[in-house]
Amino acid sequence: MRSSILLAAAASFAVCFAAPTADSRFELHEKRDGAPHQWSKRSRAHPDEVLPVRIGLVQSNLHKAEEYILDVSDPTSPNFGKHWSAEKVANVFAPAKKTQEGVAEWLEKSGIHGSRHSYSTGRNWIQFNATVAETERLLNTEYHYYEHDISGGYRIACDEYHLPQSVREHVDFAMPTIQLEGMRPIPNLLPKIGAQRTPQYGLTGTENCGNLVTIDCLRALYHFGQGNTSAAGNEMGIGEWADFLYLPDLPLFFKNWTTQPIPADTTPDFISIDGGQTANFTYDNSTGAGVESALDFQTSYSIIYPQKLRLYQVGDGVNIDSVGTFNIFLDALDASYCTYLGGDQPYVDPAYPDPNEGGYTGPLQCGGAPKSNVFSFSYNQIEAALPVSYQTRQCHEWMKLGLQGVSVLFASGDSGVANRYNAGYENSCLTSPDVGPYVDINGTRFSPSFPTNCPWITAVGATTIKGGVNATVSNGEEAVADPDPDDPKNDYYSGGGFSNVFALPSYQSAAVTNYLTKYNPHYPSHIYNNSGNSRAYPDVSAIGLNIPTVYLGTTYGVGGTSASTPIWGSIVTLLNEARIAAGKGPIGFLNPTFYAHPEVFNDITEGSNPGCGQPGFQAQPGWDPVTGMGTPNYPALEKLFVSLP
Ligand SMILES: *[C@@H]1O[C@H](CO)[C@@H](O)[C@H](O)[C@H]1NC(C)=O
Ligand SMILES: *[C@@H]1O[C@H](CO)[C@@H](O)[C@H](O)[C@H]1NC(C)=O
Ligand SMILES: *[C@@H]1O[C@H](CO)[C@@H](O)[C@H](O)[C@H]1NC(C)=O
Ligand SMILES: *[C@@H]1O[C@H](CO)[C@@H](O)[C@H](O)[C@H]1NC(C)=O
Ligand SMILES: *[C@@H]1O[C@H](CO)[C@@H](O)[C@H](O)[C@H]1NC(C)=O
Ligand SMILES: *[C@@H]1O[C@H](CO)[C@@H](O)[C@H](O)[C@H]1NC(C)=O
Ligand SMILES: *[C@@H]1O[C@H](CO)[C@@H](O)[C@H](O)[C@H]1NC(C)=O
Ligand SMILES: *[C@@H]1O[C@H](CO)[C@@H](O)[C@H](O)[C@H]1NC(C)=O
Repeated sequence: MRSSILLAAAASFAVCFAAPTADSRFELHEKRDGAPHQWSKRSRAHPDEVLPVRIGLVQSNLHKAEEYILDVSDPTSPNFGKHWSAEKVANVFAPAKKTQEGVAEWLEKSGIHGSRHSYSTGRNWIQFNATVAETERLLNTEYHYYEHDISGGYRIACDEYHLPQSVREHVDFAMPTIQLEGMRPIPNLLPKIGAQRTPQYGLTGTENCGNLVTIDCLRALYHFGQGNTSAAGNEMGIGEWADFLYLPDLPLFFKNWTTQPIPADTTPDFISIDGGQTANFTYDNSTGAGVESALDFQTSYSIIYPQKLRLYQVGDGVNIDSVGTFNIFLDALDASYCTYLGGDQPYVDPAYPDPNEGGYTGPLQCGGAPKSNVFSFSYNQIEAALPVSYQTRQCHEWMKLGLQGVSVLFASGDSGVANRYNAGYENSCLTSPDVGPYVDINGTRFSPSFPTNCPWITAVGATTIKGGVNATVSNGEEAVADPDPDDPKNDYYSGGGFSNVFALPSYQSAAVTNYLTKYNPHYPSHIYNNSGNSRAYPDVSAIGLNIPTVYLGTTYGVGGTSASTPIWGSIVTLLNEARIAAGKGPIGFLNPTFYAHPEVFNDITEGSNPGCGQPGFQAQPGWDPVTGMGTPNYPALEKLFVSLP
């Protein structure tokens, strides 16, 4: 009945518009290259099933992204530090009127009447509900049910879709289409809880740094003092994704492990995003789900106090399908990114209200969460498991935060050149490119992470003090190495490598070229993207092993780039304190200054990051894809950043 009305509408439009032949010619817009990891294709989707369709409109001026971000973050630019307002960001990138109109007209012509569409706040998404049958006609495709091999959950997806030639230039992507994976950000550190430790190993002093890297050890290594200011608005942000909940044991940590007295009742400002809860003890503590936040908050407080922390707890965590994604976090910060009615990309990002039992029943949070000057994230996803269009759109959103003076730091991953495997947190690699770059537990191709592959964030790798348990800080650092003698799939090495998606940004081009010229690892292109033209990471590194962490009342030595990232985030917070004290603004996007000033780092030249049955990459003088530019030399960093405008 409904479809006959639609057919009639389509026929009348055909008469009215007498579309030119080019207009009706469909062209392939996006295609999945093969069978997705962990999903099994089932029967054809029922034609009456209703899909929440969203069309991502091409934003204006994104081709100038690199020019804009470098203008405010390149230390030689006269506009360094002159960050943009949120309003300017929204206006400069808003889709052009002809884009909005072009897409709306195509939908009308295709029988999706204007009364059925709505726009997102930033007018960069058009959304409407349509049946599978309608959507198949609209996108010239076929939908199937896909079943998730582990959760048993299902999705409706297609393998490819088409758009009329004249519409393609206005559309980033349509959804739900080929998206299936990467629903759940994975914390980096989960299995890396080391042995139980007691404080007599050296809470103060630097006698036992090889055994447990206390705050005094970090100060001795990187030469920073105790925090001495707490400028209003410079609170540091840490994101945690449900169900990796906040269980920080802060009072015990403050009592035993900080040399500077920190009051026991010191807690972060809590910012709940889409149902994020402070703690939910219905979860089994033995899974270690609270270690991530314990490590992040304990480490950061010891460095930045008296400055405060903000906890951004994202997603309600009741179900593997409904944890918030990075997009859900970005929505809460930026109303112009948000979809109007919730769920950026159904079938990748969760739906709000959450249909799962016990899920968050409120709407998607759209803007309103405070922007922190620094965000530290110890989670990531697998580049090869997400559509390129999805990653590109989100990467631009991180760039927009940089334009507004925000420094975004992501852990580079704990699996060397491999990556985490969604279900068991063990390492996985990729199939060879002739099959398509799919996640494969037995793969031999290196597997980069998202969003560390995005050129507009700062990716943080991990080091350790050289020389084992009896080492002293004067031994210096090398790339972290924590192999699991029983199972190489649990080895921990500093995540690093070369993106298959994002191009080499100009700020790191000389550093990367230097590495590939002088220290070429000579792997063929089916092992990694050896073109020399792709974004490489990490950008920097810091200690990421044997960090004292109190978890459920006991101190452990914890490891992971999850430790290195809040250490760097805290140091950038101290740098912003120093700039603010000097009457300046926050730094914002860090990388252009970092790559232009190798002298503010301790260059790490030893160690490697094996994985995928290969030795991985080798740390070398200068930048390398294991430890980046190196670890912080705080006095040099402070001098440099305070000298910049
Ligand atoms: C789609 O349908 C759902 C469920 O009926 C409704 O809540 C939502 O507002 C609709 N969305 C649009 C864009 O019409
Ligand atoms: C504390 O104060 C001084 C200025 O008196 C500053 O240079 C120093 O680096 C500050 N912060 C830290 C973390 O040492
Ligand atoms: C934990 O989550 C469950 C399931 O959503 C919910 O019923 C319960 O109220 C939550 N508990 C706390 C302490 O937040
Ligand atoms: C988890 O640990 C917390 C804090 O020690 C405790 O209150 C809670 O009862 C524990 N939950 C379970 C299910 O063991
Ligand atoms: C990986 O290889 C092992 C050993 O050859 C095999 O038992 C396992 O089934 C393979 N796993 C997958 C997902 O192919
Ligand atoms: C560390 O020092 C202790 C005490 O001197 C010694 O017994 C131990 O063998 C040393 N361990 C290593 C790995 O060098
Ligand atoms: C390697 O990276 C470049 C630059 O991003 C990209 O154009 C190319 O497609 C990548 N190669 C492969 C095999 O993914
Ligand atoms: C804290 O220090 C006391 C005294 O040294 C010790 O008994 C206790 O085990 C420590 N607790 C933790 C969590 O480190």
